Amino acid sequence: MAVIGLGAMGSRIARRLLESPYEVVVWNRDETKAAALVELGARFAATPALAAQGADVVVVMVSDPQALRDVTEGSEGVAAGTTASTTLIQMSTVSPESVSRLASTLPAGAGLLDAPVLGSLAEAEAGGLTIFAGGTRSAVARCTPLLSALGSVLHVGPLGAGTAAKLVANATLFGTLGVLGEAVALARGLDLSPESTFSILAATPLGAQAERRRTAIESGEYPVRFTLSLARKDADLIIAAASACGADLRLAAAARSWLAEAESEGGDRDYAEMLARIVATGSRA
Ligand SMILES: NC(=O)c1ccc[n+]([C@@H]2O[C@H](COP(=O)([O-])OP(=O)(O)OC[C@H]3O[C@@H](n4cnc5c(N)ncnc54)[C@H](OP(=O)(O)O)[C@@H]3O)[C@@H](O)[C@H]2O)c1
Repeated sequence: MAVIGLGAMGSRIARRLLESPYEVVVWNRDETKAAALVELGARFAATPALAAQGADVVVVMVSDPQALRDVTEGSEGVAAGTTASTTLIQMSTVSPESVSRLASTLPAGAGLLDAPVLGSLAEAEAGGLTIFAGGTRSAVARCTPLLSALGSVLHVGPLGAGTAAKLVANATLFGTLGVLGEAVALARGLDLSPESTFSILAATPLGAQAERRRTAIESGEYPVRFTLSLARKDADLIIAAASACGADLRLAAAARSWLAEAESEGGDRDYAEMLARIVATGSRA
């Protein structure tokens, strides 16, 4: 099998697959990121097409719709190395249109699943991701043993449904962080102590999220797991998808604006830094 894209998530996915009985061929634009995996037994291919050639399954995990086009299309892209006996598992968070476009580039008979994931670095390392799979029942069944090495597979519908599911899940994630940040900012502005603030939040629907984020909010330290740039990209995907289907997502737009503001101070920082940005507005000058 082949893994295309060895960033924070793709490298962890490749590592887990190397621990299973699969032979793994890898490709990444920045070749240096493959070195540790090659030491563990992976083979590096010179292009995505060469990685896909001869692989029964190709996993793609890159940043966004443009990156997906760059690694799958053209003479060196995955599609050029794919045959009717290949199954492509697209795990990047992209748009529904990206998935349809990808389907149109593959040769007739090739299998395709869209299977983006919920969970971050720790879950990817431990095989604890939630995988939203979109595709035919038979394609999902065929890929489930392999995907089970990465997490739990939730078959959410036909091709494209996995991507739709991921956008829905992330809409809840960003909205929840935005509401949490604003609640803490308001509490600060109204001179409630941190102790009182978190006891109040514990009694609300945000209780679990407040508890989970408390240390980061109080210390101001947000270890990088999922970058602000990727989260803002996802917020853009959510808003574009909502606009295409006519859903009126005002809260998603507000969360997107917080993400974009935080991103303007450094997009490589963790997306939860949006909390720091919001909470700071509750501090008196
Ligand atoms: N991090 C998380 O917690 C998390 C959780 C769930 C889902 N996701 C999603 O998973 C995907 C990967 O996230 P990540 O955190 O692994 O991101 P990342 O560390 O930034 O890695 C991005 C990957 O995409 C590649 N890439 C970007 N632009 C490219 C291009 N034009 N051509 C070829 N390759 C390109 C990068 O290659 P180079 O190394 O050469 O730059 C790298 O392999 C994203 O869609 C993200 O939204 C992330």
